[in-house]
Amino acid sequence: MTDSAMNEPFATRRTFAIISHPDAGKTTLTEKLLLNGGAIHLAGEVKARGAARRARSDWMKIEQQRGISVTSSVMTFAREFEGLGHITFNLLDTPGHEDFSEDTYRTLTAVDSAIMVIDAAKGIEPQTRKLFEVCRMRNVPIITFVNKVDREGRPVFEILDEVADALALDVSPQSWPVGMGGQFEGILDLKSGRISRPEGDSREFLGKVDHEPVPEEFAEEIELGQAGYPEFDLEAYRHGDLTPVFFGSALKNFGVAELIDAIARIAPPPRPQPSEAGVIDPSGNEVTGFIFKVQANMDPMHRDRIAFMRLVSGTFKRGMKLTPSALGKPIAVHSPILFFAQDREIADEAQPGDIIGIPNHGTLRVGDTLSETNKVRFTGLPNFAPEILRRVQLKDPTKTKQLRKALDDLSEEGVIQVFYPEIGSQWIVGVVGQLQLDVLISRLEAEYKVGAMLEPAPFDTARWVKGEAKALSDFAEFNRANLAKDRDGDPVFLARSSWDVSYQQERNPELTFSATKER
Ligand code: G4P
Repeated sequence: MTDSAMNEPFATRRTFAIISHPDAGKTTLTEKLLLNGGAIHLAGEVKARGAARRARSDWMKIEQQRGISVTSSVMTFAREFEGLGHITFNLLDTPGHEDFSEDTYRTLTAVDSAIMVIDAAKGIEPQTRKLFEVCRMRNVPIITFVNKVDREGRPVFEILDEVADALALDVSPQSWPVGMGGQFEGILDLKSGRISRPEGDSREFLGKVDHEPVPEEFAEEIELGQAGYPEFDLEAYRHGDLTPVFFGSALKNFGVAELIDAIARIAPPPRPQPSEAGVIDPSGNEVTGFIFKVQANMDPMHRDRIAFMRLVSGTFKRGMKLTPSALGKPIAVHSPILFFAQDREIADEAQPGDIIGIPNHGTLRVGDTLSETNKVRFTGLPNFAPEILRRVQLKDPTKTKQLRKALDDLSEEGVIQVFYPEIGSQWIVGVVGQLQLDVLISRLEAEYKVGAMLEPAPFDTARWVKGEAKALSDFAEFNRANLAKDRDGDPVFLARSSWDVSYQQERNPELTFSATKER
């Protein structure tokens, strides 16, 4: 960012997500970030809010039963920081369950940085690693938070080395849990050399901490630790070559204040976004943004849906006319929603990096660009090839129309992908994980009053086929039984196996069989 850009209002925005494995403590940490960010007064409100939301519609019962969060949402909070002024945080919640990775991936297109939460006792699990890879692909820098240091954990060196090895990047510890894995003494701030201890010798943290010099017996361990790791380097962090590591306990609200301070001070402000005609800089005058998520039926009384737009450039003002790329004609955004943590608020103004919710009746779709001139097209929001394909069987055959509407809606939301085969009348849904299927059935019933069953489909995976019209029609001639159209009418090859894909690719070198599709 140039010096003049430092004074722009958007320079105070920190738009980030938390990536973690289920159970690492993401919900607890979110709660404490909001608490430390001055957004809520009582811990537990995130969960309480979640419970109220869950009660609203049937499909969300799945969340309750399985104790996971299926929908992602946005939380905005703001606080003063010494020497920095007012910082606004936009925390994009990502679903923790691995079955929802697709949704999570898309959310990561809308953030500028991420916090990776690791359970001190467990380390990096495969899903976290996958998410990390996505962050790396998208140049999203990562701050690591090693959680649950209040419990019996592994030695610090082991954790740090694992992060460095698993993710192939430099780790730079910013704090050091003293005596972890044995008798826990507290957390040492490596900058100031002071230690924050739990009160007394009970291992309970009471929120209030003493600051003391480091105990003699740990001095050596700490010196070794500090000497063995690179110093924090802002460039290297922002470039994704280094992750600063903080230790703490979300549950005991310990080490969280340091984390939030780091997000304010080192996490990047809104960055330029790639578009077909080059990158769009946040300091640009034209209001532009893209939709990374659509959520339908947030309120069962209304059939409205909310499209979540990440603002990329310009100052958005309420009532403004923006043109969605897929629609081609402008819409007036009269009731945009901001997501201040306590409540949804109507936005009057928003800056690059902010997320606004736009209520609509299905005009806005994931991947759409919104802009004033309709000349911009953002790139890089992928659809992923489904790994599980199922045929949808109606319980009541007269409900075909409702089913089609429901499948179109839900695919637009990104809950499932839908494929309409060229031959036959049984529609096929594709998902990345099993849980999405449960959500589908339950939402079909609750929101569309459509009873349906899922049957195995004779296909294993799907690929988007692209090529010249002639080559495509020749291919279709021979493979009609394996061809379908997706929701946009684009041709999809339904394959019996991945071998089938390689075989067709070899036989049809003039076509591409793609596992992702830009939306
Ligand atoms: P998630 O969103 O990543 O899935 O994790 P969540 O915050 O729900 O935390 C998972 C479990 O880990 C919870 O326990 C939570 O209380 C616990 N936990 C989170 N942070 C810490 C920490 O710093 N120290 C310790 N010791 N535990 C922590 P639970 O028993 O599954 O749920 P609950 O009954 O406490 O709600």
